[in-house]
Amino acid sequence: MRLAIADPPYPPQYSERYDTAAGGTRITMRSRAQRWYGTDRRSGNGKPADVHPAANEWDSPRRHRDLLEQLLDQYDGWAIATTPDGLDHYRPLPIPCRTLAWVKTTGGIPGGHRIRSSWEPVIAYPPRGRRGRAEHGRQVRDVLIAAPGVRNFIGSKPAAWTRWVLDALGYDPETDTVDDLFPGSGAVSAEIARGVLL
Ligand SMILES: C[S@@+](CC[C@H](N)C(=O)[O-])C[C@H]1O[C@@H](n2cnc3c(N)ncnc32)[C@H](O)[C@@H]1O
Repeated sequence: MRLAIADPPYPPQYSERYDTAAGGTRITMRSRAQRWYGTDRRSGNGKPADVHPAANEWDSPRRHRDLLEQLLDQYDGWAIATTPDGLDHYRPLPIPCRTLAWVKTTGGIPGGHRIRSSWEPVIAYPPRGRRGRAEHGRQVRDVLIAAPGVRNFIGSKPAAWTRWVLDALGYDPETDTVDDLFPGSGAVSAEIARGVLL
C-alpha cells in the first residue's frame, strides 16, 4: 500500500474584532504558514523552524482542500495534521475518514483568544481493506494523550504521534511505503524508518 503523512503549515487563523472607529465588527486573518515558515519568518515561542520560499501558499484555505484531493488521487491511505479551526478548510471529508485528537500534555498554540488550544486534530483515511475493526491489526483509539515533540522545531511531532498515526492507517512495514510529505525536523521520517508498530 502507498501511504502518506501530510503535516503542512497550518491554515490561517480568523478572528472577529470589534472595530470602535467603524462601529462594527471586522474579520481579520492571521498567517501561520508565512509567519512560521516563510522568508520573513517570525517564529512563535522563540522556537526555530526551517524556511520555505513558497510557505505562503498554505495561507490559502483552498490549498488545503487541494491537498486532500491530491492525497485521495495518489495514495491508498493518508493522514493530514491540522488545527481545530483548520478542519473547516478540508471539509467535506470523504466518508471513510475519521478525525483523531492529539491532546497535548503541555504547551499548545498560545493565540490571543480566552480559550487556549491544546489539542490538534489528525484527519485519517485508512486504506480500503484496513478499515474494519478486525482487518489488519487491532482497533485504534481516536485520542492520543502525549507530550509535544522533544525536537525544538515549530510543529514537530513526538514519536508517539507518528506511531499512533501509522497504527490508525493499519501500516504494515513489510508491505507498505510511507511518504512524509512535510518532513520539517525529520521527526516523523525518523519514526517511520524504525518501522515499529505500537
Ligand atoms: C508543521 S511543519 C512539519 C513538521 C514535521 N512533521 C516535524 O515533525 O518536524 C511544516 C513544514 O512544511 C514546510 N513547508 C512550508 N511551505 C511549504 C511548501 N510550499 N511546500 C512544502 N513544504 C513547505 C515548512 O518549512 C515546515 O518544514
